[in-house]
Amino acid sequence: MIAVHNRMVSRQPMKDRLLSRIYDRSAVVAVVGLGYVGLPLAVAFAEKGFHVIGIDVDDCKVAAIQRGESYVQDIPSARLAGVRGQEVDTYKLPAPGTMIATSDFSVLAQCDAAIIAVPTPLSKTRDPDMKYVLAAGKDVAQYIHPGMLVVLESTTYPGTTEELLLPMLVEDSGLKVGEELFVAYSPERIDPGNKQFVVENTPKVVGGVTPACREVAVTLYAQAIEQVVPVSSTQAAEMVKLLENTFRAVNIALVNEVAIMCDKLGLDPWEVIEAAATKPYGFMKFTPGPGVGGHCIPLDPFYLSWKLKTLNYNARFIQLAGEINSDMPRYWVAKVVDALNAAGKPLKGSVVLVLGVAYKKDISDVRESPALDVIELLRAKGADVRYHDPYVPVVAHNGYEIRSEPDLDVALAMADCVVVVTDHSSYDWTAIRQGVRLIVDTRNVMVQSQARIS
Ligand SMILES: NC(=O)c1ccc[n+]([C@@H]2O[C@H](COP(=O)([O-])OP(=O)(O)OC[C@H]3O[C@@H](n4cnc5c(N)ncnc54)[C@H](O)[C@@H]3O)[C@@H](O)[C@H]2O)c1
Repeated sequence: MIAVHNRMVSRQPMKDRLLSRIYDRSAVVAVVGLGYVGLPLAVAFAEKGFHVIGIDVDDCKVAAIQRGESYVQDIPSARLAGVRGQEVDTYKLPAPGTMIATSDFSVLAQCDAAIIAVPTPLSKTRDPDMKYVLAAGKDVAQYIHPGMLVVLESTTYPGTTEELLLPMLVEDSGLKVGEELFVAYSPERIDPGNKQFVVENTPKVVGGVTPACREVAVTLYAQAIEQVVPVSSTQAAEMVKLLENTFRAVNIALVNEVAIMCDKLGLDPWEVIEAAATKPYGFMKFTPGPGVGGHCIPLDPFYLSWKLKTLNYNARFIQLAGEINSDMPRYWVAKVVDALNAAGKPLKGSVVLVLGVAYKKDISDVRESPALDVIELLRAKGADVRYHDPYVPVVAHNGYEIRSEPDLDVALAMADCVVVVTDHSSYDWTAIRQGVRLIVDTRNVMVQSQARIS
């Protein structure tokens, strides 16, 4: 109610009015998409005193937030409960410093800012699948109004904000961007499970459609995030995120290939990498493993290569890195076959226990996890595949469903071969080593844990 009233009576330029609403915390901030990215961001803004409304199409998530129950590991329920708000008036605004969740987009009519953090997956043909951004953009556009800031945070190809989102926002509204409407792009860099770097202390890159758009977006983020890094355009901000994740994908692929080359040369890749990492400059350590997973590294670089294809340019590093990383599960399954063969057993019919299925340690996310490919390849060759993961009770993928083994010791004793895919910190590697017949270790935890003990 307050928001609407102020908007109607003020004669201030819209940018100044929005800036003062941000500074005095009367601004209402909506976060559209309450997943790994959106929920921590919404909580951060609520904790800084804003009225926050989370919007998600998933009613289960909305209901969980309303009960104060978090489904995102990085946000404990106690923290969420600390900002849990109630609708305080007929306009459904939460009190300052609290957040509510809803699946009703009409609340956007009362919001000063809408930050969009919806998924950006790849289609079956590995092209950008923009359906979530399009749907969210359409919903925001329906309730766009003068003096509003809209920021896209979803990872995407350079040009998305201005070529895809902006036209939806101005087409029917006729609002003048930079004067009546402010549009920006700011990539999310959250690293789930990372205790040192969280939303608040990870620098935030921001690019605006106009300088005024950038100023408003930078000002909003600066209230909740320690360092904001302005860049010249939305395209530059979009490209920053793709550079970061392409850098990781390419370097992980390089070190995975180094592991394969060392194997052929009869060398220990980890020894080589550790020794190289003693160089105090000019080398950054990456470690080989079963492949890459999660919603970022396996997907984001392909947003960039897709865009470049439209400009008749073939992004060769991205292509090659994708091939090497996605082949790693096959490499490790071949190692399982070799290990069993050396023990006089065929893979077919052998019990293979996959340890850890999350895409990285100490989290529960299995999206794009290489463990899923390892399981599928082993199953296709007739192995009796089981898994154990303290964070993932069940895996359902490509038509099969497996439950995590309830008793690790029993599962280890039953296995003809154990494959370490995810190096969760809670595993006691010394005990695991003692309880198994054969082990294929994609993460080098066995050697590392031995080194720690000796
Ligand atoms: N997960 C990460 O570690 C991470 C890190 C940095 C950036 N990103 C990027 O952030 C974006 C979001 O990723 P995420 O991991 O939070 O995804 P997610 O799947 O965890 O969450 C997205 C949420 O958006 C909701 N949603 C889908 N369509 C919607 C719509 N039209 N309106 C409202 N809500 C809608 C979904 O129900 C879901 O709750 C992606 O572009 C991703 O690449 C993710």
